[in-house]
Amino acid sequence: MASVHTYPDLEALSQAAAEELVTLARAAAAERGTCHLALSGGSTPRTLFRILRTLPMPWPDVELWWGDERTVPPDHRDSNYRMAAEELIEPLGLTRVHRMRGEEIPDAAAAAYEHELVMTIGDPPVLDVALQGLGADGHTASLFPGSPALTATERWVVANQVDSPLAGGKTMRLTLTARALTAARHVRFLVAGADKAHALAAVLEGPRDSERYPAQLVAGARDIVWYVDAAAAAQLRTTEVVRT
Ligand code: 6PG
Repeated sequence: MASVHTYPDLEALSQAAAEELVTLARAAAAERGTCHLALSGGSTPRTLFRILRTLPMPWPDVELWWGDERTVPPDHRDSNYRMAAEELIEPLGLTRVHRMRGEEIPDAAAAAYEHELVMTIGDPPVLDVALQGLGADGHTASLFPGSPALTATERWVVANQVDSPLAGGKTMRLTLTARALTAARHVRFLVAGADKAHALAAVLEGPRDSERYPAQLVAGARDIVWYVDAAAAAQLRTTEVVRT
């Protein structure tokens, strides 16, 4: 079941998402002792991470994971880990952190992360919260249109061969699969900017075409909330949105 909440801008949607994340994390910690939270990459979540730093997250009970990672070292400017380290891990001194090792051989790094997920959370590795972004082409995590990972139905984490201008051309990415993202208890998409408007409308309102719009692969998750700004929501016609 998905719901769409629209906000005037990135700051407002990030504030709302961060406040709900605190609630979800506290509930997971109370019920199961731990909140397994998978962070998204790219630029959108930086605002949310900055706000999250100021809110009463139960950090001692939170285990950080990633939805995807670029095949670069953790100090590289493109590293999703690096951005989270700058905004959350280093300022807060977080230690329960499971980094995707983008600097290692991709297939081995994916297999190692998959093993770490299952050994830490269980099989299936049900994340409590998966934060997701949306690319202007409809990708999420590193599940890009037409890429091999879209059919990795038996895996939780794979190395994905990507060829997209949104990924800087041909590259390898580490990514949770749609199977892993769909298994999460709560999926939260953060989408901002006019450049995402077409993809958001196609994913939410267009015909089922997950090869072309991979974010549709996550539609089967049990609880999805889209936090979007007005610019990204501009092409939505039939979706019932909660305006805030
Ligand atoms: C990544 C992300 C990716 C991202 C979208 C949106 O590693 O790039 O995980 O899925 O969420 O590409 O990126 P922006 O937030 O930068 O628009």
